Amino acid sequence: MDQFHIWRRKIRWNRQYKKGRWDYLKNDVEAPRYAKIIASIKQYATKQPSILDLGSGEGILRMRLEDEGIGYFLGIDFSKVSIKTASNYDFENADFQVADLHYYKPPQEFDVIVFNEAFYYINHSVRTKVINRILAKLKKDGILITSIFKEGPGCWKYFEIPELEQLEFSKVDSEKGTAYWKLGVYKKT
Ligand SMILES: C[S@@+](CC[C@H](N)C(=O)[O-])C[C@H]1O[C@@H](n2cnc3c(N)ncnc32)[C@H](O)[C@@H]1O
Repeated sequence: MDQFHIWRRKIRWNRQYKKGRWDYLKNDVEAPRYAKIIASIKQYATKQPSILDLGSGEGILRMRLEDEGIGYFLGIDFSKVSIKTASNYDFENADFQVADLHYYKPPQEFDVIVFNEAFYYINHSVRTKVINRILAKLKKDGILITSIFKEGPGCWKYFEIPELEQLEFSKVDSEKGTAYWKLGVYKKT
């Protein structure tokens, strides 16, 4: 893995967050994606689950979740700019930490783990390793939710493994119908 490449990407994300390049994620156009993730949590997860949001950015998923629906929420992102924005919202029962998903080891077990438009940024060479590290911290019967823009070539095979049972796989259209996401919901077997 090219450390310099990852470092450069991180700098780019920080610069883009500072410039507001990702502000549009808060718009209605993107709302159906967050809504589907939240509906999946409600449908498949235990009540008031602990949720780990990998590549959380500015915490928009947490923003859209109802306070009462959450036991605990931890957002992880390697962009310190986005994590600062998320932390400044001061959400109830939530923490946000800076970490690189290539190396991240969750500190505790979670009921729900989410890759919301973040998995494809992980280098191919360590994707299996990252999934295994994350699954080790997903509770038995816990759920993993992955959202990927359009078809996500080369991504979905990492979720077709004996350790995961697919509960749902759906297509979510953006509000204006110009973009779509594929969303997989899995249970740890
Ligand atoms: C398209 S944004 C999605 C943000 C958020 N999940 C959402 O949907 O609102 C992708 C996020 O992944 C983060 N990211 C990319 N590579 C990462 C890595 N190696 N470790 C941690 N975060 C990473 C970026 O900083 C960015 O915040």
